[in-house]
Amino acid sequence: LQTSPPHLLSPPLASPSLNQDSQKLLCAQHAASLVKPSTILGLGTGSTASLFLEQLSDLLSAGSLHSIVGVPTSLKTDALAKTLNIPLTDLGSHPVLDLSVDGADEVDQELNLVKGRGGSLLREKMVEGASREFVVIVDETKLVPRLGATGPIPVEVVPFGWDYTIMKLKELFKGEIGFDAKLRTVWDAKEGKEVPFKTDNDNYIVNLLFEKGISGDLRLISDEILRITGVIEHGIFIGMATSVIVAKKDGKIEILN
Ligand code: 5RP
Repeated sequence: LQTSPPHLLSPPLASPSLNQDSQKLLCAQHAASLVKPSTILGLGTGSTASLFLEQLSDLLSAGSLHSIVGVPTSLKTDALAKTLNIPLTDLGSHPVLDLSVDGADEVDQELNLVKGRGGSLLREKMVEGASREFVVIVDETKLVPRLGATGPIPVEVVPFGWDYTIMKLKELFKGEIGFDAKLRTVWDAKEGKEVPFKTDNDNYIVNLLFEKGISGDLRLISDEILRITGVIEHGIFIGMATSVIVAKKDGKIEILN
């Protein structure tokens, strides 16, 4: 039997290695393929959710999906949906939605989420909380052992007394090593300085920073944050996701539920 010398053997087939943008597209495509005609649909915010909207729009214009109507979770998503000809409605007209699809900043093993690093957490929580099903679409970098491990947990606060509210948040987490709470700002070119970031609801965002992520009972922590007068909502979404579609580097999809 003649065998090829080792240097002439064909190399093993390399498995694909998708970058983060391709992973986002993959999970967005998968989620869009699950949407049924006549769905009342919550439309998320962010780069992954925007890809989902584009996929949805393609299905609508190809005629393979009909009679869906969306509830946007931000002004940005509202504008994008309009340019993509996705029919829109609002929460008052449809207080119960069939399905919401949105990205997330972090997902833990219990499918609790951090959302709102894009600033839309309040409307997202309202729309997604009103949905029978909430499907989260993420690339694998979003899976974390603990919420708050990769970045801030956003809290929406009223502008009045925002520095007082920060003091109260710091008091709440005073035992936590490496904890900090900071007002989110953006560069205003006209003013030539940093100004507070404003949400779609004209509120401010305070970023809670944990050195190694949140430790302790999430529900208790959630209640304690919400009990501070001046806090409107926070970006910890506990027990809301019904499933998470994870797109992996190797091109595979994993469904967590
Ligand atoms: C916006 C959000 C987004 O879903 C979250 O920030 C993820 O965004 P992206 O898909 O761009 O990574 O919560 O408020």
